[in-house]
Amino acid sequence: MKIVAAMCDKSRGIGMSNGIPWPYLPGDDIYYRTLVAPKHQDQRTANIKGRLTWISTKEDESKAPGVINIVITSKPKESLIPTNVHYTCSSLEDAHQYALDCNIAEDDMWIMGGHDVYKAAIEHPFCSYLHLTRLFAEFETDTSFPPFEHQFKLTKDPEVHKENGIKYQFEVYERMKTYQ
Ligand SMILES: NC(=O)c1ccc[n+]([C@@H]2O[C@H](COP(=O)([O-])OP(=O)(O)OC[C@H]3O[C@@H](n4cnc5c(N)ncnc54)[C@H](OP(=O)(O)O)[C@@H]3O)[C@@H](O)[C@H]2O)c1
Repeated sequence: MKIVAAMCDKSRGIGMSNGIPWPYLPGDDIYYRTLVAPKHQDQRTANIKGRLTWISTKEDESKAPGVINIVITSKPKESLIPTNVHYTCSSLEDAHQYALDCNIAEDDMWIMGGHDVYKAAIEHPFCSYLHLTRLFAEFETDTSFPPFEHQFKLTKDPEVHKENGIKYQFEVYERMKTYQ
């Protein structure tokens, strides 16, 4: 599994009022969409989200071809909008098992938030990579990205981009090996 997220550098904020706190960043949107999209016609990927992140998903994104949508929630599948949910479950473990049952490769399972789903993924040994967009700007937020530095290390020095007056960079982390 892989995590994808964007956060403010200092506050670690990721969300506000069930939306994204910062103005639209076209470069980050292209990066995100390219990263998580199936790369060829036969490839299937899984998007794993908590219920609030799911309900903030755009209709077109929810219907992306080749994508299996898995929502972690206690609510019935039929009550969720957008409606294109393939499976609901009560934990990241269940979501992971369903994706395996669908023959989706570990590298094609994307953990997309929010806070508790990220937290569970950071501690999950099969979650190997974290793709984090770091914004060098602060906004009002009510949801944050959990601590991950104890489990992941940066793979290479990122390049800084600037859009709409906001500096940001694409960071890629990999899980640190643990020796017993
Ligand atoms: N910047 C980013 O990269 C990014 C990415 C994703 C989301 N966001 C933002 O984050 C906010 C949403 O995140 P959130 O943390 O508030 O909510 P969330 O995790 O998306 O959804 C919370 C709900 O998901 C279910 N859930 C989540 N984790 C669970 C677990 N471990 N076990 C059982 N159920 C679980 C529960 O649903 P039930 O209540 O149905 O039981 C819970 O109420 C929004 O503002 C969104 O825009 C930002």
